[in-house]
Amino acid sequence: MTNSTPKTYTRSVVILHWLIALLVIAMIPLGKNLAALDPGPDKLMLMRIHASVGIAILIFSLARLYLHFRRPRPAPGAEWATWTRISSTAAHWALMAITLLATISGLGAFTGYGYLQLVQTSQWQPWPDGAAIPPLNVHHFLVTAIIALVILHAAAACYHQFIRKDGLLKRMWFSR
Ligand code: HEM
Ligand code: HEM
Repeated sequence: MTNSTPKTYTRSVVILHWLIALLVIAMIPLGKNLAALDPGPDKLMLMRIHASVGIAILIFSLARLYLHFRRPRPAPGAEWATWTRISSTAAHWALMAITLLATISGLGAFTGYGYLQLVQTSQWQPWPDGAAIPPLNVHHFLVTAIIALVILHAAAACYHQFIRKDGLLKRMWFSR
């Protein structure tokens, strides 16, 4: 670690991290409600919101990926065990990759299988049969993976913050 290694992520990365976290977590019940509704004006409105927020997540995630390489970031804590360094790096990459792939699979299903036409024409019949849409099956699987990874990631952050008390959350917050 050099003197120029920061103690926190940069402001833009912190803003993007919490914005993406908030939007991705909100999209899970939103998507489940969308899938549970019968075709009608409410389902169509939720589909519009789901696709718009999802595309925003895709754009923010690409910006975060770019900044990951372009901005300095804090080094792993000197006291972290090797397995902590390896597992946190792997979990962060998995979160970045799976979030991106979830948005891309959703976009593929949305544009290639009739949803876009329904939204453009304000119709809800015939609603596509999700079970027969391969990118939607991938979307469903990736969303399940996101839920598991976010629980693991938040639990790890809380373990550091409240049990080890090493102030990990400060690394993902604004520096004074
Ligand atoms: C959908 C939700 C979330 C996603 C996709 C996500 C993703 C990520 C990623 C990719 C990183 C690494 C950033 C980088 O290296 O550029 C990271 C770091 C971090 N996240 Fe999250 N995160 C989410 C939710 C949360 C939550 C709920 C918490 C806290 C309870 C949290 C706490 C942290 C902390 C403290 C770090 C910095 C860890 C370190 O310095 O090594 N995240 N997150
Ligand atoms: C990380 C971002 C996203 C999350 C967390 C998410 C989450 C979900 C969830 C939980 C479902 C219900 C699936 C099920 O449980 O079977 C769903 C369905 C769906 N999502 Fe996403 N989604 C995201 C991004 C997107 C994007 C960007 C699009 C399109 C532009 C999209 C299009 C769809 C479509 C078309 C469905 C099926 C709707 C239906 O026929 O009922 N999603 N999504």
